[in-house]
Order: sequence, then C-alpha cells, then structure tokens
Amino acid sequence: MALLTLPGLIDMHVHLRDPGQTWKEDFYTGTAAALAGGFTTVFDMPNNEEPIISVKRLNRKIKEAKKKIVCDVGFYGGAVGSSFESLKGLEGKVFGPKLYLNVTTGGFMIDVKKLEQICHIWHARQPILIHAEGRMITGVIDIVKKTSVKTHVCHVSGIEELKPIIKAKEEGLPLTCGVTPHHLFLNERDLSSLGPYGVMKPPLKSKKDQEFLWRNLKYIDVVESDHAPHTRGEKESENPPFGVPGLETTLPLLLSDKRITIGDVVRLCYKNPKKILGVKTDRTTKVVVDTNSQFIIHNSKLHTKCAWSPFHGWKARGKVRRVYIRERKVFEDGKVLVKRGFGKVMFPSFNP
Ligand code: DOR
Ligand code: ZN
Repeated sequence: MALLTLPGLIDMHVHLRDPGQTWKEDFYTGTAAALAGGFTTVFDMPNNEEPIISVKRLNRKIKEAKKKIVCDVGFYGGAVGSSFESLKGLEGKVFGPKLYLNVTTGGFMIDVKKLEQICHIWHARQPILIHAEGRMITGVIDIVKKTSVKTHVCHVSGIEELKPIIKAKEEGLPLTCGVTPHHLFLNERDLSSLGPYGVMKPPLKSKKDQEFLWRNLKYIDVVESDHAPHTRGEKESENPPFGVPGLETTLPLLLSDKRITIGDVVRLCYKNPKKILGVKTDRTTKVVVDTNSQFIIHNSKLHTKCAWSPFHGWKARGKVRRVYIRERKVFEDGKVLVKRGFGKVMFPSFNP
C-alpha cells in the first residue's frame, strides 16, 4: 500500500441534471460519484431541462441541491438565444455564464455576435465559459482581444482548437482552457467498440489530435470531466444524446499514466480550477489515494445513476480510500459516510 494525500480535487465542469432530468443523475448520486472520484468541489452546468437563466431558476436549483449534496457544489448560469439580459442578475451568485457556440444537449446555442454583447455586459470577475468547437475558436479569441474579458474554453479536443489558444496565451490574452479525460484517453478509433457510448460533444478526434493534446499539456490549465450522464436506454436509442460520465474515472486514469506526475494532477485538478474560479478551500479537505492498488474500472462499481463508463474494463491504478471535507470523513472504501445535504453550495468569493 502507498497512501498519497492530495487536496480535495475540484472539477469545474459537470452536468448533475437536477432538477429536471433526475432519471439520469441527481444531486445525491452525482455528488456521491464526485467523492468516489476524489472530488470535493464540483461546478454544475446550466443546461438543465429548464436552463438556469434567471435568479428564480437558480434559487430553485440551490434549494434542491441543499437537500441532497454530499460534496460542495457551485453553479454556472447560461444564456439562451436573445434573453441574456437576465445574466446580469446572476453576477455574484454563479461562477460564470456558460455559453454554447455549437449545438449540444439542451439546444443552448448563441451566435458569436451575441457573445460579444455578453462580454460587454458581464462585469463579474468570474470568467465566461465557452463551448466552441473547431473554427469557432478564432471568433472567440477575437472577442477576447477586443473586450479583455476573462474567458475559459471548455473541453478543447484537438489541434484546430488548441493551436490558436496556445498562440493567444503566448500573446498574453486572459484565456484558459480545459481538456476532458475522454479526449486525452480515447480517440475516434475507439468508436467502433464504444458505439453510442463514445458519442459526445465535442466528438472524439484523431490520434494525431489526441497526441497534440498530450504534447502540449503545459498549455492546458485544467482537466475537467464534463461528467454528462445519460441512461443506457437513451444512449442505445436511435438518436443517442451527447455525453459520457467521468467523475469517478478522471483521477485513476490520470494516476495510471506515466506522462502525468502527481504535480500535474494537483495543478490540473486543484490549483488551476481554484485560481480560475476563485474557489475558497479548506486545508482539512483532502483525499487519500492508494497509488499502488490496481483495479478494473467496472460499471457495477460506479455511484453515478447512469451506471456505465466508456472506460469499463480498463485497468487503472489509484483507488480513492478516504475523503475528508472540513475535517469530517465523508467517504471511505466505496461508501458515503455523511447524510444528504452535508455539502455546501458555493458562491463566488470575489464579487463584481
Ligand atoms: O457531451 C456533452 N454532453 N457535451 C456537452 O456539451 C453537453 C453535455 C450534456 O449536457 O449532455
Ligand atoms: Zn459540458
């Protein structure tokens, strides 16, 4: 046994589906999955069935969360179509607006002109979070150049996105970016075995793209799971929805790969998300991992309600043994030890 203690990890990109689609996941199962994966703080996306575009909807979501969460959770807000004026009211309450420039789950898309308008009205110090695939990224970078608004590009998946981001970062633009474990560990060749379980946005890319991500790890600020659970029935339907779960597999996958050091894990899954979002953390919030234990990732062992993983059957190293939040032991050897509602809803520590 080789026990390693890490700070409680932060996943800045999850979809917990509550309220609205709790047959896929809910605040309890999603945060239990977070603990099982070594994450003590997660940030939940706004593409609920009723997207989080107003304080009223946010408050309803917070009320639901307070009853069920077993780790800490912060929220993002989101704009749909032309109704983005309400975003102003969310400043100081959410960790940023999430804006979609490409089609994805929930039909949230806005065009690049709207993005520029939003950059002018968003004055909080939290970044704007962007879903921009392929060529869309150049439009985003132009707007960051014009407005100097702090921007985080989510789930960068290949050369076409990362190359211009590297250039923009070298020019000193206030731009950060994340990659998902599925874009690091899978590529389009895996689609033949994964079928619909490999369908996500952005889609899996070529081996060349995947290798480009690995070669340029130093330009990548965070690893974010984009935990996006859907039921097996939904995935096996004629029109499989986009998304894969990831909270429970991120850490063991990273710890199993020789290209990643423990220092990288702390930088990508703790220090940078903390800095980007301005998260308050507690020294006694920590994770104890057995870095020697090898195990097989298995659907039946997962806490996520969807109960499958694209990494089912993979050999991994680094079992989460214990998790502590604010001194309290909250998880041990596969079991959640606290009642629903133990986790805290997080609010930005710096206000506009
Ligand atoms: O794969 C994805 N699933 N990408 C997204 O952008 C949304 C997410 C979801 O909510 O299912
Ligand atoms: Zn997402």
